[in-house]
Amino acid sequence: MVQINENYLKLPGSYLFSEIARRVAAYSEANPQAKLIKLGIGDVTRPLCPAVIEAMHAAVDEMGVQETFRGYGPEQGYDFLRDAIAKHDYAARGVQMAADEIFVSDGAKSDCGNIGDIFGTDNVVAVCDPVYPVYVDTNAMAGRAGEYDEKTGKWSRLHYMPCTAENGFSPVVPEGKQVDLIYLCFPNNPTGATANKAQLQAWVDYANTVGAVILFDGAYEAFITEPDVPHSIFEIPGARTCAIEFRSFSKTAGFTGNRCAYTVVPHELERGGASLNRLWNRRQTTKFNGVPYVVQRGAAAIYTDAGKKQVQETISYYQKNAAVIREGLQTAGLTVYGGVNAPYIWLKTPDGCPSWDFFDRLLQEANVVTTPGAGFGPSGEGYIRLTAFGGAAATAEAVERVKAIL
Ligand code: MLT
Repeated sequence: MVQINENYLKLPGSYLFSEIARRVAAYSEANPQAKLIKLGIGDVTRPLCPAVIEAMHAAVDEMGVQETFRGYGPEQGYDFLRDAIAKHDYAARGVQMAADEIFVSDGAKSDCGNIGDIFGTDNVVAVCDPVYPVYVDTNAMAGRAGEYDEKTGKWSRLHYMPCTAENGFSPVVPEGKQVDLIYLCFPNNPTGATANKAQLQAWVDYANTVGAVILFDGAYEAFITEPDVPHSIFEIPGARTCAIEFRSFSKTAGFTGNRCAYTVVPHELERGGASLNRLWNRRQTTKFNGVPYVVQRGAAAIYTDAGKKQVQETISYYQKNAAVIREGLQTAGLTVYGGVNAPYIWLKTPDGCPSWDFFDRLLQEANVVTTPGAGFGPSGEGYIRLTAFGGAAATAEAVERVKAIL
């Protein structure tokens, strides 16, 4: 009889955002009159900008004409997009990146999970706590996480790095301990915290010393407002020999429904005598057939003058929402973090209320959907996360509703 991957049986019942969707659907069904405001999953709400729409329309037209029709594209992405990324996301910030170090894909979520294919199952994986659950669940699926303990909410083989208010939500480099794969996400999901150059340098130095690899998720890079915050791990000397970076058009340009992202694997990055760029290329060419041409044309349009300006307008719109949430809740006497360089606001629940209880209270009494901090890991207990990706009016109303029930 066929054997299943038993690691799946060890996973908690459902993925965090599916569980939230389930609870929200159940509440809506029982209370059809409730006008919910959703500040839970970080999904964008503003339409694609005109430059992207124009480029996608033109690409659709090309696909309908014999001379310009395209079948399979390069698995790694079209040169026009890889070149634009290298120029605008890296060279413009003083970072040299070759186009063939950039792999265009259908999402940072998929890449953060799929990257595990090129690493052995015995590696010790370090994750922040709280953490974007994809890093944890995909390592559990691959058999790298050990056993799940429901009481502690932890996996036996993962190395958890508590990120708390006391340490500024910044993970501490393990001293005297070998970890092999290190997931870092800055600006951080869920806390909205950032890492400065010195903090990232400490990670790069550690990884180069012990032969670890940093998996750096920069999906929220576009939301950085403060000048000294690094936008890429590759701004840090030494990162090319120890880091892989994930970036996405999802939050930057409203592509959550369009699916386009990219992963950067430098040529200098080698482990066990093998080039990780070659391994990732081998993985992608075997298991992935590239992002649709029309979508890649849309993505490339954000690097035109008009596209840059329009995308920035949308990001500013969300940044204003973040300020409305942060300042509104602070005025109400609540303790909030994040929301300055990130679209997430990390709110300490009042009177130490457990995350899921506060989530339920906000859902039922204020009809506002949030994400319970405990869903991101044990150190997220006592917090909830709000996103700035809603509509401006709905966001302002959500803040008033929350204030009114407290
Ligand atoms: C989130 O809410 O954390 C994100 O939207 C999830 C994702 O990007 O997959």
